[in-house]
Amino acid sequence: VLAHLYARRTLEAGFTTCRSLGAHGFVDVALRNAIDRGDIPGPRLQVSTYYISATGGHGDQVGFSPWLTGATPPEMSGIADGVDAVRQKVRYLVKYGADVITFGASAGVLSEEESVGAPQYSQEEMNAIVEEAHLWEKRVAAHAHGTEAIKMAIRAGITSVEHGSLIDDEGLALMKEHGTWLVADIYNDTYILAEFEKLGFPEHIIEKERMVGRAQRENFRKAVEAGIKIAYGTDAAIFPHGKNGRQFRYMVEWGLTPMEAIQSATVSAADLLGWGDRLGSVAPGKLADIVAVAGDPLVDVAVLEAVDFVMKGGVVVKNELE
Ligand code: ARG
Repeated sequence: VLAHLYARRTLEAGFTTCRSLGAHGFVDVALRNAIDRGDIPGPRLQVSTYYISATGGHGDQVGFSPWLTGATPPEMSGIADGVDAVRQKVRYLVKYGADVITFGASAGVLSEEESVGAPQYSQEEMNAIVEEAHLWEKRVAAHAHGTEAIKMAIRAGITSVEHGSLIDDEGLALMKEHGTWLVADIYNDTYILAEFEKLGFPEHIIEKERMVGRAQRENFRKAVEAGIKIAYGTDAAIFPHGKNGRQFRYMVEWGLTPMEAIQSATVSAADLLGWGDRLGSVAPGKLADIVAVAGDPLVDVAVLEAVDFVMKGGVVVKNELE
């Protein structure tokens, strides 16, 4: 019900195209279609529908008794175990509108597992997810914090590592070799440590954030130095929708130049989505997606946290310039 508000806030923050990695009930498909039809304002979306997860994995950890959760029909979830089941799950999600496939290669922070980085699928299962997605011409994004899980997912042939927190030198070398993208949500550590205790998250989850947050930033810097392809991505909704621009300053603090940070959210992000022919730069034949600010982002990249002008596909959707 509220998704259209979040879509509008995101667009007005200057994000004219987004990937949505993980949603329930195919709400992301409905939202994408409503935006594409022009029914409501929002970014054009590439959606993954459900996040594919192992039983007990990052996408299957709500902390409730099965008495309460057991009623969810298996087809209305991303839970799948075993090579055949993950293949079937990919087909099912594509059937109902997935543009891109996302799965949990490792454990996570904001879920109940003890580990933050342990692999949650076998190599065979990861290979099957990626191979099946490729048959349907879909790219795969893997949630992965853990050192081994990151490498397994890269070897399976994913397009992007989401988070990448505990990557090691071998992982960076593999990313380089495979041309894998890094999408590291490095702003979130600040927001989670400041806000999530107040939201009622238990101490063991906050502790997991302390285990990955700083390491993720240090490894982001190493990835920049290693020349890894980096695209802007925020895991939005950890912080309120519409604050998506807050990550720019952290990317500059941790190794990118302001121009590189801007490119991560424009040309590079378009390339990651496979839409580089239409989006990402201002050029003849491309869709006119343009933002403007009163300041100079090359001097202070934080001005991108509040953009004054947004055009999507040649239509002005916000104009607060004098
Ligand atoms: N959705 C992610 C998870 O729960 C958020 C991680 C945020 N923390 C961070 N340092 N990036 O695993």
